[in-house]
Amino acid sequence: GFQVIQESEGDFKGPRQALLCGVRVPFYAPVIDTDFEKDLSRFETREDDVFIVTYPKSGTTWVQEIVWQIYHNGKVSRKNIEERYAQFEKSQLFPRPGDEPAVALSSRPSPRFMKCHFPYHLLPMSQNEANRSKYIYVARNPKDVAVSYFHFVRSFGPDGDFNGTFENFANFFVNGKGSYGLWSDHVLPWWKRRNDPHILFLKYEDLKKDLYFNVRRVSEFLNKSLSEDVIAKIAHQCTFGEMKKNSDNFSVKDIDSKPLLLRKGQIGDWRNYFSAELSKKFDEILVSKLEGSGLSFDFGT
Ligand code: A3P
Repeated sequence: GFQVIQESEGDFKGPRQALLCGVRVPFYAPVIDTDFEKDLSRFETREDDVFIVTYPKSGTTWVQEIVWQIYHNGKVSRKNIEERYAQFEKSQLFPRPGDEPAVALSSRPSPRFMKCHFPYHLLPMSQNEANRSKYIYVARNPKDVAVSYFHFVRSFGPDGDFNGTFENFANFFVNGKGSYGLWSDHVLPWWKRRNDPHILFLKYEDLKKDLYFNVRRVSEFLNKSLSEDVIAKIAHQCTFGEMKKNSDNFSVKDIDSKPLLLRKGQIGDWRNYFSAELSKKFDEILVSKLEGSGLSFDFGT
């Protein structure tokens, strides 16, 4: 069911969330459609749909921009990223009586570009392997995710989503009380399906290390053949510094304070925020869950 949750601990306000399909999602009234759960079961994907899926703050915007440029042969768009991509779990899936048809995802023209933070089991996926959409999952080390997420929720201002300290937020995060649940529960099911032909699993840290190689990988996965020059151009245009020049295109538009989706763009910023004790807690609760899975992350130096 649909239910607003406001977790508080002591004298601070925790993240405001709603339960959607059993998942805690950030709640910014009135963007979540209460009929969503019902509609999800009959939503039909298309072969040319592209989903960018992440635990929030793992590099969603970055890969959205890369994919966009791949589809547009290296051309940089002047439109805000939120106009180019629908956020699946915040979208109206079907038109209601009297609606403009284009408001609903079901009536949008192909190719539909979508981002989504849902766990694997809630992503719509065709039963028929031959006409399945493409799903690009991006993962990032959980300590940097927590720092990035903290800054993001704080940027909504004192009356916004969260007004606690980093320590408060990190404790929510590591205990799976943050939006979209426990980080490891999100990442591992996608990692297990990384070899499925319609799934590409990327790591933020790998993109940082070799963007050219990863742009090529993404273009090959999407069956878009591009020249070496265009790949190099996209890799350049998608560096943090180049994207930052178009900051307005990477801000959250449906909120008055316009929080930015580009902040620092580095590996290892967590070292400026974590105590030794908190770092140990993350290792014990989250990082340890990866043992034996073959998945590991660069935590920076
Ligand atoms: P930081 O807060 O650590 O800077 P999402 O898009 O999933 O919300 O993730 C946002 C994070 O990705 C932010 O991390 C943001 O700066 C980073 N990011 C976005 N574009 C990037 C780029 N071109 N290079 C490196 N990091 C990028």
